[in-house]
Amino acid sequence: MKKNIVNYGALVRLLIQRYPLNHRGIHGVPHWMRVRANGLSMAEINGANSKVIELFAVFHDSQRFNDAHDPEHGARGAALAFEFWQEGIISLEKSEFAKLEEACCDHTHGGTEPSSITIATCWDADRLDLGRVGIIPNPRYLCTDEACDYEMLDWAYNRSIR
Ligand SMILES: [Fe+2]
Repeated sequence: MKKNIVNYGALVRLLIQRYPLNHRGIHGVPHWMRVRANGLSMAEINGANSKVIELFAVFHDSQRFNDAHDPEHGARGAALAFEFWQEGIISLEKSEFAKLEEACCDHTHGGTEPSSITIATCWDADRLDLGRVGIIPNPRYLCTDEACDYEMLDWAYNRSIR
């Protein structure tokens, strides 16, 4: 039986229930929300798919087993997104789900050659939040012009270190 599509707040609550770590930790909900804000801000300029960005923000780190080396966590996040999509908890076109899956799976491997502006924006939204772990984002590892913009870098960095 299909479940009802949930709103974003309810989705975050469902993911907190499934999150193996402390949801207030460095890869937890505060990070998810900053990634969301970073991505949506860039999407206003570059036309990236905001629905995919919002879902990437909450799924990409949602299945980490630890806060350190965990190279398969992106694939596990994508698998959980697939489960939710199949169950009708989240609503996406097939092509949108493919982008979400690629963005989640490959964000862990430091890719700088994304196959679409939406995936590029997802990865940059995540990397712009590196200040929380003491890293200043390096434009060399960012994919979009929007993320390399000084004002964007500064805005995201200042939020990441709060
Ligand atoms: Fe992340």
